Amino acid sequence: MIEAMTKSPETLAEALETIHPKGLFAELRRGVLGQDRALRFVAVAIHKHVLGKVSGNILLIGSSGTGKTTIMNNIQRLYDTVPGFEPFRAVTILNANLLVDSERTEFRPDRMFSAIEQRARVILGERPSFEELEETIERATVCVDEIDKMSTVVAGKPNPIGVVLQQGLLTLMEGERVPYRLRAWEGGREVEKMVEIDTRKMMFVCGGAFEGLYDQVYNRVTKSGSGERIKTEAVKTADGSVRLETRFSLADFLKMKDLFEYGMVPQFMARFDKVVVLNDLNTAILKEILLHSYDSPLARTQRYFESLGVELELEDLAAGLIAEKAAQENRTGARALRDVFSEVVNPLEFDPDDDAAPVAGDPGRRRIKVDADRVRRFVK
Ligand SMILES: Nc1ncnc2c1ncn2[C@@H]1O[C@H](COP(=O)(O)OP(=O)(O)OP(=O)(O)O)[C@@H](O)[C@H]1O
Ligand SMILES: [Mg+2]
Repeated sequence: MIEAMTKSPETLAEALETIHPKGLFAELRRGVLGQDRALRFVAVAIHKHVLGKVSGNILLIGSSGTGKTTIMNNIQRLYDTVPGFEPFRAVTILNANLLVDSERTEFRPDRMFSAIEQRARVILGERPSFEELEETIERATVCVDEIDKMSTVVAGKPNPIGVVLQQGLLTLMEGERVPYRLRAWEGGREVEKMVEIDTRKMMFVCGGAFEGLYDQVYNRVTKSGSGERIKTEAVKTADGSVRLETRFSLADFLKMKDLFEYGMVPQFMARFDKVVVLNDLNTAILKEILLHSYDSPLARTQRYFESLGVELELEDLAAGLIAEKAAQENRTGARALRDVFSEVVNPLEFDPDDDAAPVAGDPGRRRIKVDADRVRRFVK
């Protein structure tokens, strides 16, 4: 994808045309694994966004540690790395609760704009003009995380700030001109004035774990007379036998009315073009994440050891055992990988000299191999 950009197209628009959703998908996938369905929607939305078309806002729903915030971080990374995406680099990730003043129960879009403005300033460098700042802010991608905490009902009680947040955000998502105080360069000096920020061209990605939604939908589906049926699948176990398994998956049954019942305002939900339920991560995907995600605990530790002149190698079976252990901690998703992996590598980080062997023909370098035995020794 990035090579495509070196053909030096005539205009920015032409350059952006050459970056297809497939290429964006592949780039996002370097950091997010096991969520291909969600990434396809994100890739298409980004493609439309940079071409100036209505991009479509996305709501990500997924259990803790399945990659919601990671997807947002990777959207930001994507914009930062793809040549030609410079004008769109004001990707801002913020928590939903930042957008309301809880004491005054007031929506605070200025906090969103100020977060975007900070990023815009980094992109534009010194002395940006009003036009440059406004344009960059208006082309922003806004990721609002922890949106489920802004439900209209929390623990059975009305949550007024949730109502205010959802109402406020929905008007921005629809496209509104919002007054905002901006400082910029004009006629050789810095001045401050009120401008109007048009949010029509912004792209919004919201995410939340929606704890409790899973049980709520499960109860609806399994209630007698619901008319719904949970699928039964034949699964092959490790020893080769086949077992019938009934597996409830939220994605199969989630309806808009479930989200309304959860406490999401219907008009707010209507502003999303797509609600994607993320997959729960099984052992195989956790192993993939550990071995291949560019920012996995393994990759980070390898970078650390690299700085000491040590190559860290993880055997395939060892990776499988770590993933299997992490999968047992099913409440924390891929976060569990970090825990389990650090149990294994901490002794090595504490004293690399014990296990590092010299690399033949390269006197400056050493190598550590993590095998299944080591994992079994440190992970109970
Ligand atoms: N699908 C994934 N692919 C690669 N890494 C992942 C994935 N999901 C989670 N991770 C890793 O696990 C950690 C936690 O993931 P993340 O912060 O995205 O979870 P989350 O879905 O936002 O959960 P929460 O609801 O608790 O905020 C991250 O450090 C990330 O590296
Ligand atoms: Mg998160």
